[in-house]
Amino acid sequence: MKNDVLNAIHYRRTVNQNSFTDQDISQEDLLTILEAANAAPTHKRTQPWRFVIFRKEGLERLGTELARIYKSITPTEKYSETTELNMTKKATASNVAIAIIVNYTGDVPEWEELAATAASVQNIWLASHSLGIGGYWATPGLINHLDNFLNLEENQKCIGIFYLGHHTAESREPARTPIQDKIRWEE
Ligand SMILES: Cc1cc2nc3c(=O)[nH]c(=O)nc-3n(C[C@H](O)[C@H](O)[C@H](O)COP(=O)(O)O)c2cc1C
Repeated sequence: MKNDVLNAIHYRRTVNQNSFTDQDISQEDLLTILEAANAAPTHKRTQPWRFVIFRKEGLERLGTELARIYKSITPTEKYSETTELNMTKKATASNVAIAIIVNYTGDVPEWEELAATAASVQNIWLASHSLGIGGYWATPGLINHLDNFLNLEENQKCIGIFYLGHHTAESREPARTPIQDKIRWEE
């Protein structure tokens, strides 16, 4: 790769709990990651991203809540105890979990707030990768039931949970169809 930024973009990957170790993410690294999120572009500087950071016992509370929601919204015939346990494990097997929230201001179209928040998530992902920390953006249906737990305001919506951890995953090339299939030149 030509430089560190391009290298990080190319080699950033989804790394999940199967590869997480129990090494702590330092406060310094976590703040660096959150500052990177805060540097995302934003129309009219609405800066719509909000984050709730779960660590330590916070992860236990998140895991318990995810399992509780799963149990309460899943029809009996579809319910599986393994899935319920996995909901808890996703949180407790991570070192940090970040609830990703969009704060809709009404100053720009909602899709622009969503796009800006997604850009901030990519910054989280790239900054983490650059510090040797893995993670991924999880978007289970359960996130639509977290409003009370997260104390969201009327104009806010949770659009995922970003799980983070130091890890043992090998570096991987991106699995993508060619960019040539997705572009059209007008010359
Ligand atoms: C908006 C969004 C939602 C995602 N939701 C999930 C998810 O719920 N669970 C999951 O395992 N991965 C999720 N991912 C990660 C993708 O599966 C992953 O980025 C994709 O497979 C490409 O792999 P890479 O990140 O290693 O390049 C999500 C990614 C994005 C951008």
